[in-house]
Amino acid sequence: MVEVGPRDGLQNESAIVPTEVKVGLIDRLTDAGLQAIEATSFVSPKWVPQMADATQVMAAIRRRPGVRYPVLTPNMKGFEAALAAGCDEVAVFVAASETFSHKNINCSIAESLERARPVTEAARAHGVRVRGYISCVLGCPYEGDIAPERVRDVAAALKGLGCYEISLGDTIGTGTPGKTRKLIATVSEAVPIAEQAGHFHDTYGQALANAYAALEMGVATFDSSVAGLGGCPYAKGATGNVASEDVLYLLEGLGIETGVDMTRLRIAGQFISDFLGRAPVSRVACALNAKDPLP
Ligand code: HMG
Ligand code: MG
Repeated sequence: MVEVGPRDGLQNESAIVPTEVKVGLIDRLTDAGLQAIEATSFVSPKWVPQMADATQVMAAIRRRPGVRYPVLTPNMKGFEAALAAGCDEVAVFVAASETFSHKNINCSIAESLERARPVTEAARAHGVRVRGYISCVLGCPYEGDIAPERVRDVAAALKGLGCYEISLGDTIGTGTPGKTRKLIATVSEAVPIAEQAGHFHDTYGQALANAYAALEMGVATFDSSVAGLGGCPYAKGATGNVASEDVLYLLEGLGIETGVDMTRLRIAGQFISDFLGRAPVSRVACALNAKDPLP
């Protein structure tokens, strides 16, 4: 489980969340036993003001040895700041849709891959791992359907740059399990299933079903947001990632060991939900809270 709530979740909040609240959330997620927590983004504060405190967040979190705290870095400026902040893993992000690429990072897909190249080279030189994200893998808010072959080709390019894993982002949550299966089969022509991760937003309520379809095909890494936080500032109407509590419940039901403690995960979700002043967007958290309230 890759927890992306502090980044993908909070980046979509219009009111600035204080640094100490972000740190409080990340520290609670560490306590829940997550092995990977995407902490923040080193992006332009003009584009995403919520992530402007990336350096302060990285300086203040309690890093548990063995836990990864990846951050997004769209370009060398972001990478250098991430390196200075002591980051041990970064993520580059590109899209399978030209229009979305322009809206999100102000350049074409080809240009974004060229921008990612020096980042991956510098990362390799510094022993920093690089994850690759592809957005709009199951649909684009501007272009509609996206051919799986386009995703495969972008995935091949990211793998060629040295990304150890490609996270397939259903940014607007329009995917369904059948499309997800087809996508994974097609991407597998270029990237082994063991190097693919699922990143499903739940806008249409399909995220958990898509994750299960991917799991049945052998995908073993899933991005999720505690309390179902999130959205994307450049995809109108997109809601949060699949909730971490819901993914954990699914995996526990299948007897899959994750090392994540449900009660501590709920505590992290309640902490940020209380701050945001709304109930967690997780069916499992709501059900458990009704039956067994947190202290
Ligand atoms: P640009 O405006 O074309 O870039 O933005 P620029 O190089 O002209 O720079 C503009 C200004 O930003 C300059 O400042 C730069 O210094 C500064 P000025 O000179 O005007 O004062 N700048 C930076 N500042 C801090 N850190 C940096 C940085 N880079 C430039 N790294 C850029 C291009 C890529 C920078 C911009 O479009 C950007 O930051 N975009 C980020 C968008 C974003 O964060 N989107 C959300 C994350 S992706 C996502 O959510 C999808 C995902 O979850 C998967 C899925 O669900 O699909 C991953
Ligand atoms: Mg996302």
